[in-house]
Amino acid sequence: MLFQELQIGNTRIRNRIAMTAMATNLADISGGVTQAMIDYYGERAKGGAGLIIIENAGITPNGRNGAVQLRCDVLSNVPGLGRLADAIHYFGAKAIIQLQHAGQATRQEYIGELPVGPSPRVETDGRMTGRALSKLEIEQLVQDFAQAAVYAQQAGLDGVEIHAAHAYLLAEFLSPISNRRQDEYGGSLENRARFAVEVIQAVRKRAGRDFIISVRINGVELDEGGLTAQEAAQAAVLMEKAGADLINVSNGFQRHVDSLSAFLPAGWRSVYAEQVKGAVSVPVLTSGGLRKREMMEDILTSGQADLIGVGRQFIADPHWPEKLKRGCPEAISHCLMCNVGCAGNRITGKRSIQCVVNPDVARESAALFAPRPVKKPRRIAVIGAGPAGLTFACEAAGRGHTVHVWERRPQVNGAMRLAASVPGKGGMEAFCRHMEWLAESGTFTITCGCEAGPEEIMAFSPDAVVYCGGSVPNRLDRVVDYSTGKVKTAHEFLETDRHERSGQRVVVIGGGSVGCEVADRLAEDGNFVTIVEMTARVCGGTHDINRRALLERLDEQGVLILTETSLEGMDGDTVLVKQGGVQRRLEADLILVAAGGRGGPPAWFSQLAERGVDCYAIGEGASARPSNIMQAIQEGTALGRTI
Ligand SMILES: Cc1cc2nc3c(=O)[nH]c(=O)nc-3n(C[C@H](O)[C@H](O)[C@H](O)COP(=O)(O)O)c2cc1C
Ligand code: SF4
Repeated sequence: MLFQELQIGNTRIRNRIAMTAMATNLADISGGVTQAMIDYYGERAKGGAGLIIIENAGITPNGRNGAVQLRCDVLSNVPGLGRLADAIHYFGAKAIIQLQHAGQATRQEYIGELPVGPSPRVETDGRMTGRALSKLEIEQLVQDFAQAAVYAQQAGLDGVEIHAAHAYLLAEFLSPISNRRQDEYGGSLENRARFAVEVIQAVRKRAGRDFIISVRINGVELDEGGLTAQEAAQAAVLMEKAGADLINVSNGFQRHVDSLSAFLPAGWRSVYAEQVKGAVSVPVLTSGGLRKREMMEDILTSGQADLIGVGRQFIADPHWPEKLKRGCPEAISHCLMCNVGCAGNRITGKRSIQCVVNPDVARESAALFAPRPVKKPRRIAVIGAGPAGLTFACEAAGRGHTVHVWERRPQVNGAMRLAASVPGKGGMEAFCRHMEWLAESGTFTITCGCEAGPEEIMAFSPDAVVYCGGSVPNRLDRVVDYSTGKVKTAHEFLETDRHERSGQRVVVIGGGSVGCEVADRLAEDGNFVTIVEMTARVCGGTHDINRRALLERLDEQGVLILTETSLEGMDGDTVLVKQGGVQRRLEADLILVAAGGRGGPPAWFSQLAERGVDCYAIGEGASARPSNIMQAIQEGTALGRTI
């Protein structure tokens, strides 16, 4: 059913796959379309999306969202939007653009004035950070939305999506938490939905019947006192009556857990879409962690929704629909739900999006990344079959080089497989399977379970050697005693432990991402876990969204976190630590060392250069840097495409 057509209003979509709106920060300084943006969206249309919902675009300057935002409120942007529409249409997809006013979710630093919303917003310290809109201003904004839709239509786009979800202006009006107005825009649901309804009516009036109007709403607000699922369904009915052709059901934010959290089960919000679907007769879109075809088909056939919305997986692999359609799911490069490259850059970093597993994001057509076949194939030896080694091998072999990879572990992806065994890392497992598929592709050869030395390498008669050996965990041998049998590195533990342990006292030395993740798994298995961290901050290597969710889990599971605490040594089964000058004794049945790792090629590696071999070192093993899959994949790709 996923590849069956769908009618939305008067427009036919080639399949049931929509790319949901995702801000990229690829617009130029005045909110105009750039070539990078055209290439980015064109690639996703080429990859098989049926409907592309272009990222949120501003309808007026005081609603700007983020450091830079695409704008649909100026005539001068129409030609650029037209080129964007053409690029998407060229590959057979339909394109609508999301129209947004950020309301009080924007910041004064972006817009130079107090953000506006339904009611004033006052912080706990008494600072006023948002003011209420007057009725006259609401009227003007309704016209601004409609004018933006007209610009979108002039650009040749197939429709618009009115953003009435998340924590932005129209959602703030819908929410009983943020809307405390006493006039006809506050109070009853009908009143709270009035602003959105007026926007839909105005857009329909200006743009006519053949223009898609989608509305993105929160299927529920999980905060106490927020919009209920029943109210969301009622609001959808009002919106359909006003002229909406499609209801895109997203959700509001919980206090702690963000809807991008890796710990949420796939498809967790489809139940809210189902509730809306039961109330309206126009198509309904659901999204949120949807990656597996079986789940997508289930949602469609069970009638929970009519259209499958996919966000980050389109960043990770723009061609996933085509690969699925061709019956080749192993070829899909899976999104890790890590948020590091996408949300990390767009929201936290104020940079344009990137992706940990897809090095081509936002530079789809850059010359460096357009691989060319080599004229003179070389023999290349690769040491290490992690993300850097496998990505390099694939790219280099794809260009005609003869490549052989050596891996000391019994299988490829050794360290990543371990990382996949902790909670919230489901995406990692799928990604490992994809890397294994690459390794089995036959374009290069591989020997696992063999620690390659200079003899093996030179016996291959290489022209070049690429070291991608990853890092070795720090053991802290001088402070802890491995001979007791109670001490392991976190990696050793993940490699050997089979979830048989429970009710034990575990001390984890090191509160970085590995330490916290391993603590989470042990606590989930019913152990009493203490994390000892030298610095003031734990779980530093994880993106904020997943970090908050992980810390919340650790807290709920009773994990004790000791920060600014140094490890002093061991006394039998007891770990000795010092916090604020005071020594503490921590009884332990198991002590896990998660104190980072050190990389760097072996001493003999540089000697190969003296024997006329070109030597390269990439990825984590190239230096003593901390683990970073994004860098490993980017370096593997770049070298593989240029060597
Ligand atoms: C980098 C990034 C930017 C996003 N920008 C928007 C946006 O502009 N408008 C919107 O409605 N949702 C936005 N979202 C949410 C996505 O549309 C989608 O609902 C979310 O990523 C969950 O779906 P997924 O698990 O398939 O990624 C964004 C998400 C990410 C990761
Ligand atoms: S950066 Fe991470 S979460 Fe974002 S698309 Fe890439 S793999 Fe997915």
